[in-house]
Amino acid sequence: MNTMTKLALGLMGRLRPAPPKGEAATAIALPPPAKSGGLPLMEALAKRQSAREFAREALPLQMLSDLLWAAYGVNRAGSGRTAPSALNCQEVDVFVALPQGAYRYDAAANALQLAAAADLRGITGYQDFVDEAPLDLVFVADHARMAMVPVAQRESYASAAAGAIAQNVYLYCAGSGLATVIRAWIDRAAIADALGLTHDQQVLLAQTVGFPKGA
Ligand SMILES: Cc1cc2nc3c(=O)[nH]c(=O)nc-3n(C[C@H](O)[C@H](O)[C@H](O)COP(=O)(O)O)c2cc1C
Repeated sequence: MNTMTKLALGLMGRLRPAPPKGEAATAIALPPPAKSGGLPLMEALAKRQSAREFAREALPLQMLSDLLWAAYGVNRAGSGRTAPSALNCQEVDVFVALPQGAYRYDAAANALQLAAAADLRGITGYQDFVDEAPLDLVFVADHARMAMVPVAQRESYASAAAGAIAQNVYLYCAGSGLATVIRAWIDRAAIADALGLTHDQQVLLAQTVGFPKGA
């Protein structure tokens, strides 16, 4: 779907997900993440950039596991994560829009839990490339987990946490030959509706990931 069509449908509140491409399992067990490899940090920083052209090819499951662990996985005993959060509220959930369905990344279980049996990729942003890329991440804040944070600060704190997760994704991609772009130009209401979010949950940002086109 092109950008103009999405904008028009969005204005009418009618931007809807596409039917799933294939069977959507209720849960997908991820292989243990590889916590080594990739480029050294300084080299990954030297390569970090946004890209807006993606191949359609799916990421291998191991790569998806590694990507999500880098983004916001559990990285130490207890429940510490690869990205910070204010007062350790861990209020951000990472949703993964795949052709067969949209899943919530369950970091503790290292698994994907089905949120919607539909192809949400096309509605995760107004730009054309989001439809073709193999996956789009959506960062969602759950305000119910931020009881200790003053109400006026919740959105900015959650956005800062999502930004840290997004940079983790950028660095993983830079170190692994993947392309990515963080995106704020999204229809938050359409995404919230398709994911069946509660009133406490707020769509913050999306991020497309895939192999570079023509690579
Ligand atoms: C909060 C935020 C929102 C952004 N939203 C979009 C977006 O909706 N679409 C897009 O193509 N790029 C988006 N970007 C990416 C910026 O355009 C990009 O980071 C900037 O042009 C610098 O390019 P670089 O990332 O390659 O250094 C966003 C970046 C940030 C930090």
